[in-house]
Amino acid sequence: MDPFYGLQRCRVTAVSSFSAILMAALLILYRTGGKSSPQFDLPNQPRISHHTAVHLQRLPSLGFMNGTDFMWQVPESPKAVLLLAHGCNGKASNFWDASSSCPNCVGLPEERLLVLHALERKFAVIAISSLGKCWSFGKEKENVKWILQWWIDENKLQNLPIVALGASSGGYFISALAAEARFSSIALMISEGVFDSMDIPKNYPPTLFVHMPKDRRRMELIQKNMQNLRMKGVRVKEVRCMELPLTPHFLWDRMPWLDQSFSVQLFELLRERGFIDEKGYMRRDGRATPWKEALKEKHFSYEKNRWVDHIQEELNLAYGYHEMTTLQSGDIFSWFESHMR
Ligand SMILES: *[C@@H]1O[C@H](CO)[C@@H](O)[C@H](O)[C@H]1NC(C)=O
Repeated sequence: MDPFYGLQRCRVTAVSSFSAILMAALLILYRTGGKSSPQFDLPNQPRISHHTAVHLQRLPSLGFMNGTDFMWQVPESPKAVLLLAHGCNGKASNFWDASSSCPNCVGLPEERLLVLHALERKFAVIAISSLGKCWSFGKEKENVKWILQWWIDENKLQNLPIVALGASSGGYFISALAAEARFSSIALMISEGVFDSMDIPKNYPPTLFVHMPKDRRRMELIQKNMQNLRMKGVRVKEVRCMELPLTPHFLWDRMPWLDQSFSVQLFELLRERGFIDEKGYMRRDGRATPWKEALKEKHFSYEKNRWVDHIQEELNLAYGYHEMTTLQSGDIFSWFESHMR
C-alpha cells in the first residue's frame, strides 16, 4: 500500500459552494441511515455477537445508478475495497440484514457473514446487483466499472487496493472484469471463470479458486484453468470446501436469529426422515431434499416461510455442493491481504 496513503487522505481540497450543495444533494439521494439510526429497530433482528454489533451500528448505504442498485458499507480506517458479485438470482440486498435503512434486505446467512468478516478486517464493501437474473459480459462490465469508480471517488477510497469476489455467475463476471479493472487480487467462488473465452493479460491479478470438489466437473475445469493461468505467470491457489455434518445447533449457529428449538427440531426431523445419515451428513443435495414438505406435514410454523432460502442455503452448504460459503473466509481474506498493492 502507498506509505503516504494516510497523508493523502487527509489532504483538504477546496470545494466551491455549488459543488458542496451538489454533494449534499448526492448524500441525501444516496445515503440513508447513519449514526443516529437506532441499532435494533426491527422485530426479529438477528441476535449478534458483540464484535459484529459494532459494525451493524452503522447501517449500509443504498444507491441506484446505470439501471441497477448497489449497497455498501465503509468501516473506520478502511485498508482496501472489496467488490462483491452474487450468483444467478442473487442481489446486493442479500448481503445485509434487514434494518431501517434497508427494510427489504434479505441477509442470507453466508452473504451477510462475508460482509461482517470483511468489515472486521477493514475492507470497505460494495455489492452491486446484476441487470438480469445472471451477469452478462457486454455493457454490464462498463456499468460496474462506472459504479465502482463513482463510489470510490465519492467515498475518497482512491488510494486503496481493490479486490473482488464473485460466486458462480458472479465468479465468471469477476474473472472477465479482472482483465480490464485494477484489482489487486480476486477470489472466484464455485466458478472456473471465463478464461477460455478471453485473452489473459500479463498483469492479470492473483486468483484464488474457492470450490466444492463434490462438483467434479467444475473441479476439473478449475484444475485446467489454474494450469493455464500459471503458464501465463499468474499466481493461483485453490481452497477446497468439503461437506460437513449437521448438528442440532448448526442452523442456529449460522442463523442466531432463528429459534434455537426450531434448529433442534428441524435436525430431528431430517434424521427421522432419513435426509441425513447417522453421522449427520446430508444424503442428497439440499435442493433435492424435500425438507420443506416434511415441515409442512408436521405443521411446523416457521414465520411464514421467511427463512426458507436461508435454511436452504445452509443445507446446500452442509452437502458441500455449489453454494456460497464463508467457512473458508479466513483463507479468502488472507489471500486478499497477501496481495495488496
Ligand atoms: C452510468 O450513469 C452515469 C450517470 O447517469 C452516466 O454518466 C454514465 O455514462 C453511465 N455509465 C455507463 C457505462 O453507461
